Amino acid sequence: MPDYLSMSKEELKQEFQSVQHTYEKLRAMHLSLDMSRGKPGFDNMDLSEKMFDLVGNDTGFKNISGIDCRNYGGLDGLTELKDLFANILELQPDQIIVGGNSSLNMMYDTISQAMTHGMGGEPWCRQGKLRFLCPVPGYDRHFAITEYFGFEMIPVPMNEEGPDMDVVEELVQDKRVKGIWCVPKYSNPEGVTYSDEVVRRMARLKPAAGDFRIFWDNAYAVHDLYEEGDHLLNLYEECVKAGNPDLPIIFASTSKITFPGAGVAVEAASPNNVALLKGRMKYQTIGPDKLNQLRHARMFRTPGDLKRHMRRHAEILRPKFESVLNELDKQLTGTGIARWTHPRGGYFISLYVLEGCAKRVEELCANAGMILTPAGATYPYGIDPHDSNIRIAPSYPSVSEIENASVVLCTAVRYAALEKILAENTTF
Ligand SMILES: Cc1ncc(COP(=O)(O)O)c(C=O)c1O
Repeated sequence: MPDYLSMSKEELKQEFQSVQHTYEKLRAMHLSLDMSRGKPGFDNMDLSEKMFDLVGNDTGFKNISGIDCRNYGGLDGLTELKDLFANILELQPDQIIVGGNSSLNMMYDTISQAMTHGMGGEPWCRQGKLRFLCPVPGYDRHFAITEYFGFEMIPVPMNEEGPDMDVVEELVQDKRVKGIWCVPKYSNPEGVTYSDEVVRRMARLKPAAGDFRIFWDNAYAVHDLYEEGDHLLNLYEECVKAGNPDLPIIFASTSKITFPGAGVAVEAASPNNVALLKGRMKYQTIGPDKLNQLRHARMFRTPGDLKRHMRRHAEILRPKFESVLNELDKQLTGTGIARWTHPRGGYFISLYVLEGCAKRVEELCANAGMILTPAGATYPYGIDPHDSNIRIAPSYPSVSEIENASVVLCTAVRYAALEKILAENTTF
């Protein structure tokens, strides 16, 4: 495609007319497309359907330790699932707390408890106005939790290796900084896996606040799109080596392995942190939904079962990602008005359009029947200072819907950019 930034005014006007024409044709198709939330498609969920036949009158309700999963008890979850998650997260089973249906809920709860009861020290709510580090662009629901509890959220730029660690190391010198949100593998929305160096520097942090914690949300730990997945260094092991075992609190779930909202979530940490967290849990609940845990345990009896299952997810998701990437490449490569990530796993592609154009792209897409994640959502307080980042979630629509959606998106990106360039260069 031609480089928009070096075109003459006449060429730009012609190009704009042609893009407007295409856009109007797309609008006339009255499409109804949604690339806003990272939900699995129905075909992804079909892969786990057999789980419902694995627990019942014919198959029994007891786990391998003989626990009747229909009854109360077992605060921190079934043995089999601790083993499964210990394998996924490369931790010891006794470091794992298997919870309910949502890891986000466990994150919220951990912060809520830190506010009222501290993280081994004074309750956070008694320590004045506090701060939280937010690698950007990042996951809107993480930011929403810390906004809700009144933290001042400090953006930290992401680069190709993870958060900018020079910035993180400097910011943790401030005692008011209590934590950092991290999605270390196939990050939401960048699709970046933190490099070994970033993980090591995280582990070696010397925060001024003794109760600072790394919220390590490994939501996409096994969500490779290709046979050869990215490798993430084990943060906990590095923390132990650095004499910082209590720094990380690690989260994961099966939301995008089995059923979002009906999966199983985990929280994992050092023995000190696990004792603290379990000591509080006993006041909250008599135990989690063990029948759902048992379904999962029987579905994934070995790490090999999980690997095969994730491969089947990848076969469904890969063509969807590739369809978006092909269209971006076709319509935008060389134009100088956009760049995007090429994730090898996870659920998102991160697109950067010409500065000041993301909201306009969102509007143009909406007018053509396509919903995008709201521009700005990937930044604290919903404010992208450059109005440039758009999170693309290709998992939910079908491949043919994605093909249409990608055409609409790329047309809108070109439309918004040409409009801006022409408006800014009225005199030429
Ligand atoms: C990074 C990240 N963490 C957590 C979640 C939600 O996890 P759960 O369903 O376990 O609450 C999502 C969902 O999109 C996510 O992208």
